[in-house]
Amino acid sequence: MRPDPLAFLSTELSAIKRQGLYRSLRILDDRQQATSRVDGRTVVNLSSNNYLGLTTHPKLIARARQAIEEYGVGTGSVRTIAGTMAIHMELERRLATFKKTEAVVVFQSGFTANAGTVSAILGKDDVIISDALNHASIIDGCRLSRAAIKTFPHKDVAAARRVLQELPAAQRKLLVTDGVFSMDGDLGPLPELCSLAEEFGCIMMVDDAHASGVFGKNGRGTIDHFDVHGRVDVQVGTLSKAIGALGGYVAGARSLIEFLYQRARPFLFSTSHPPSVAATCIGAIDLLENEPQLIEQLWENTRFFKKGLQNLGFDTGMSESPITPVIAGDASRAMKLSDRLFEEGVFAQGIGFPTVPRDKARVRTIVTATHTRDELQFALDTFAKVGRELGLI
Ligand SMILES: Cc1ncc(COP(=O)(O)O)c(C=O)c1O
Repeated sequence: MRPDPLAFLSTELSAIKRQGLYRSLRILDDRQQATSRVDGRTVVNLSSNNYLGLTTHPKLIARARQAIEEYGVGTGSVRTIAGTMAIHMELERRLATFKKTEAVVVFQSGFTANAGTVSAILGKDDVIISDALNHASIIDGCRLSRAAIKTFPHKDVAAARRVLQELPAAQRKLLVTDGVFSMDGDLGPLPELCSLAEEFGCIMMVDDAHASGVFGKNGRGTIDHFDVHGRVDVQVGTLSKAIGALGGYVAGARSLIEFLYQRARPFLFSTSHPPSVAATCIGAIDLLENEPQLIEQLWENTRFFKKGLQNLGFDTGMSESPITPVIAGDASRAMKLSDRLFEEGVFAQGIGFPTVPRDKARVRTIVTATHTRDELQFALDTFAKVGRELGLI
């Protein structure tokens, strides 16, 4: 028998386990909702990105069903060959109007929107100036582009300026930040970064995955929240989190979108969304426009829960959004916290290195608009019990 050429993976896995970083997949036996059956246990779910509870919204389920009846379950092609249906174009038009930009292109995910866009518009002679905590999909896009990558410390605008001062004026530059940082829940300093981009002639890009449907009027994102409309050249959003379905998009000038239709590799080489996904997303935009009370409820729940954790004495970092980390120290402590919470009926995923720094492992909580006060109070009581048990408070 030949030696197993993948044997080294078992060694690597053992090392991951020894460091307390091994993740088992939790299995949802239920719908994605505020209280769910997970791994056979009924738990208050603080782990999803389902900010507005749209994954199970009856109006969206009806839209998806109707689209399946009308158009079938799949498209059978990439967008550039035969996989662009009228409903995909309708979604892009609706998003462009919603985001107040000339045009929008929808990708299969937020990940591919970021990675596909950065790698399409930048090349090996260019420079990318990127916040150190930007999402993995931006980092992968930067690497794929083969441009030089200069990271600046998290939210440090002065450091970004120093990087820019060193670069030749004529060189093409992209300044990129997350709108909401996914592991800390804090906001990128958009007005200051937009000013830098204008001063140094950079392309300005914001990844608003966690801000779409959460920040700004009717959930238009951090560009609207900070009122920097017209100052961000590349706005990325996701349809996979607050919108409740799947996908990502880029909003911007018509020329940017036309170019991405021609050159963004995930757009060109991967099959388009089933029509039911596009229909669901159109329905979700209708909800954002017509039922803003969902977003108000999300924020009311966020304030209640965040304050509750802080009053208990937990280290919740710098969060300004519905994402509230509970920082526990090393990975094994964070995983222990997560495991004990789960045993007591609260699902809040532990997150360790390399997603966050080694000494800042955490449990990340995300409340949704659909959590009831009782569910949130139960979660707080459970955090109090387990936090005391582990000496975190
Ligand atoms: C900041 C950020 N950008 C992009 C993405 C990718 O979005 P999607 O899940 O739609 O691929 C995520 C998702 O984890 C994210 O947190």
